Amino acid sequence: MAFSVQRPSAPLGAEIKGVDLAQALDERTFQEIVAAWREHEVIFFRDQTLTPDQHLAVSRRFGELEHHVRQDCCRPGYPEIFVVSNVVENGRPIGSRDAGLFWHSDLCYKEEPSRGSLFYAREVPLENGKPRGDTMFASMTAAYDALPASMKKKLAGRFAINSYVHGYYRDRNSGPRRQLTAEQMSKTPDVAHPVVRVHPDTGRKCLFVNEGYTTRILGMEEKESDALLGELFAHLYKPEFLYRHQWRVGDFLIWDNCSTQHRAVPDYALPLRRVMERTTLTGAAVTAA
Ligand code: SIN
Repeated sequence: MAFSVQRPSAPLGAEIKGVDLAQALDERTFQEIVAAWREHEVIFFRDQTLTPDQHLAVSRRFGELEHHVRQDCCRPGYPEIFVVSNVVENGRPIGSRDAGLFWHSDLCYKEEPSRGSLFYAREVPLENGKPRGDTMFASMTAAYDALPASMKKKLAGRFAINSYVHGYYRDRNSGPRRQLTAEQMSKTPDVAHPVVRVHPDTGRKCLFVNEGYTTRILGMEEKESDALLGELFAHLYKPEFLYRHQWRVGDFLIWDNCSTQHRAVPDYALPLRRVMERTTLTGAAVTAA
């Protein structure tokens, strides 16, 4: 299957044109798509019509899938499909209403963080014909490469704590969250990861701390760690490292959870509906740079 790759003027992100993901991909096309994903870190396909089973089938070509810790937010009958939505049906939210409102990478708080996520846009809020609820992406390879040599040296060999519980109770737009159950807490203990990680497939260095879940750099006083994290967060999300995706219904977008971070833009509310479905690849071993 011949396809073309179109790049926006951003350090990451590319549109793949000429692929129908509802059809089984031949191995060569699939490998070329994987190569484009590695190179551009975020890739997307417009105008896709996929059933939940087809979403799963495409996702499984990329690897094994997670069952999200919040099963209450998954599509009924599909424990691998995490729903991100502001819609409430029969008095019950159909998914997570405030997922990803801060910069993060998916499952960075696990021993083996997710390799990537595959996000399908079923309903996109439109206000006066303009899409709302964009997603921002930041390239962690571009951010690392742009660091001064003195900062690269300072970060080398450092580890930081990533905490699901910290992220879970952070800024919310739908009121306070339900307490996590003891079982959910036991599945998500805090974990230490290298501040700079080597990408498991490309070998590139990626900054692996984020605003949402990283709480502390180890081996430093709290004040010093807070100051360094603050300095890093001010760097990571500079406009020159970003791509902002404006969604259309039928978009299928794949992001890399090692070389990128993302954040949802909550600039819409009911009656404008947003329904997105995410599958999440299982993890890769973390290697320090
Ligand atoms: C997520 O972080 O998985 C959700 C991103 C979004 O809703 O745009």
